[in-house]
Amino acid sequence: MAFAFDIDGVLVHGDRLIPEGRRVLDILNGDNELGIRIPHIFLTNGSGKPEVARCEQLSKILHNPVSTDQFIQSHTPMRALAEYYNTVLVVGGEKYRCRDVAEEYGFKDIVVPNDIIAWDETVAPYRVFTEEERLESRPRDFSKVHIEAILVFSDSRDYATDMQIIMDLLRSKNGLYGTVAEDPISQRIPIYFSQGDMLCPTEHPIPRMSQGAFRIGLEAMYRAITGVDLERVVYGKPEMATYKYADEVMASWMETLHGEERVPENIYMIGDNPASDIVGGNMYGWNTCLVRTGVFQGGDNDEHNPANFGVFKNVLEAVTTAPVRGVVRSAESK
Ligand code: G3P
Ligand code: MG
Repeated sequence: MAFAFDIDGVLVHGDRLIPEGRRVLDILNGDNELGIRIPHIFLTNGSGKPEVARCEQLSKILHNPVSTDQFIQSHTPMRALAEYYNTVLVVGGEKYRCRDVAEEYGFKDIVVPNDIIAWDETVAPYRVFTEEERLESRPRDFSKVHIEAILVFSDSRDYATDMQIIMDLLRSKNGLYGTVAEDPISQRIPIYFSQGDMLCPTEHPIPRMSQGAFRIGLEAMYRAITGVDLERVVYGKPEMATYKYADEVMASWMETLHGEERVPENIYMIGDNPASDIVGGNMYGWNTCLVRTGVFQGGDNDEHNPANFGVFKNVLEAVTTAPVRGVVRSAESK
């Protein structure tokens, strides 16, 4: 048995602890009747910071160790793309943090939207470009640079500018800024999104729009302007590739904890978002538990993507209702 935890809306709200989250991790890290460590990984659609920094931050909030070896955020599997593309446009996130993430992943030549604005401010007519932003930007003559792929790592902080620059590149000849391809398909560079959540719980009472909403807007604009559909790749929950990746992480975490590299038979996904955590877990054959501390604010269960293991007040109730008691009982009877 093992657990896969969603983070936002299950264990924390942004930087704020959900108190039951800390108790759950205490239990799984050995504060239980048998004193055993119960394997668990963190599977979040969150993004925008290197894994090491995010795990350090979570360890502090949760008062429990969170290792990068048990942690997957939305763009973690995109690390593999560094092998395939040399020059990439990295979009989203606060300030220049996603450039740091991409560097850490091994991308060799990284461009961010601010580099393009610093080269030519008329690209983004409504943008107020600050001196501070300019200082950290890396402008060059982008009319001579072939950008090979667009990677949306995190939520856009400026939809108008980012959409404009992405659209310019999607319509260009092989990613050469300032050109317009005659055929919108054959010379189009690929675009990847780190996750597809429409909504995200925040301090605001009603969940806010997330990367999925940004993507849908972009797709609609692309279709209206070019007359063709935008092909794209989406990572994160509920995409199957992310769950397969989670299996690999789970198996190697099992080896770290118990010296045996294998995928546990029973995996419980604890999530707050039916449209990502629950639908993905259900499709992948995991047991799914929906909690009421985040996006889900409905009745007995979600109408469209019901959790197959049940709906719980919070993460502590989900973990202790059946699974942990079950394992403790069976271990005691041996
Ligand atoms: O949708 C954005 C992100 O904050 C969601 O994170 O942990 O709920 O998958 P999580
Ligand atoms: Mg969540």
